[in-house]
Amino acid sequence: MDMLTISRVSKTFGNRKVINNLSFSVPEHSVFGFIGENGAGKTTTMRMILGLLQMDRGQITVNGEQVVYGQNRTNRYIGYLPDVPEFYGFMTPMEYLRLCGAVTGMTKKETEDQAKKLLDMVELSHHEKRICGFSRGMKQRLGIAQALLNRPKLLICDEPTSALDPVGRKEILDILSSIRRHTTVLFSTHILSDVERICDEVAFLHQGSIAFCGTMEEIKSAGSGRGYEVEFFRSQDAGAFAEVFQGGSRMERNVLRYERKTEADMMQAMRFLGQRSIPVQRIQMLEPTLESLFMEVTGR
Ligand SMILES: Nc1ncnc2c1ncn2[C@@H]1O[C@H](COP(=O)(O)OP(=O)(O)O)[C@@H](O)[C@H]1O
Ligand SMILES: [Mg+2]
Repeated sequence: MDMLTISRVSKTFGNRKVINNLSFSVPEHSVFGFIGENGAGKTTTMRMILGLLQMDRGQITVNGEQVVYGQNRTNRYIGYLPDVPEFYGFMTPMEYLRLCGAVTGMTKKETEDQAKKLLDMVELSHHEKRICGFSRGMKQRLGIAQALLNRPKLLICDEPTSALDPVGRKEILDILSSIRRHTTVLFSTHILSDVERICDEVAFLHQGSIAFCGTMEEIKSAGSGRGYEVEFFRSQDAGAFAEVFQGGSRMERNVLRYERKTEADMMQAMRFLGQRSIPVQRIQMLEPTLESLFMEVTGR
């Protein structure tokens, strides 16, 4: 089942069409990466999912129920971590979660149990410090705990890792990855390595619609970024090879890379090397990376 579906959604600000006939869906229990450059419309899309922003056209459903602008019925399924979360800095994490529980109508007992569990999970249970003294990473972790307090079916995080250092990023990614059994996760980012690390599926937002989407495996086998690389022991061998097989680029003195080639092309190269008895250190098929696909899609 799909936890979230977006179909033919458009949104214009003034005379600028930011979202143009956007469609994609997020399967239950997946970690879904929503990728796009700055200004691509990721936050705009998330605000429409939450019913905080009116769409011009299209339809969004969460857990099978239609999202209606200005109403928050479907938000009972959603936990949301905005791009710049705001907290009451004078509170401790526990005090803050107690407040959130009270505001959303949870019982005291339920709030207490759930808050303890979540603060443990995000490794903030030993912090009696006030939130104003927290690092960015700690604030993001608290934000995730808060978003999960109500046991949502869908967690939406808007660029949760963008402002963090590598350690802080890894902590967030580990948390998002660990909750996938109970919660579907949609998170936006422009950091491709984050996506490669934890996502089951991705959608690439470009110029207001999805340039491509699919599972990580589908993406790895798509695109024209495939090719192969040969590493020679001697640079004169690399030179001789390059004369016969044109169009390669010299990566290092002894390394030649051929982009956009098939397995058959690589086999042909291997036969040539065998016939001439040219020793190689390595010959390798290249995998298309998210980055090469991104560059292809954005025309860079
Ligand atoms: N309330 C608004 N009024 C006018 N333009 C907006 C508004 N919100 C966003 N935009 C514009 O829409 C585009 C997409 O913004 P946004 O969704 O924030 O992108 P992202 O989150 O992918 O960086 C940007 O060009 C932004 O300036
Ligand atoms: Mg944004």
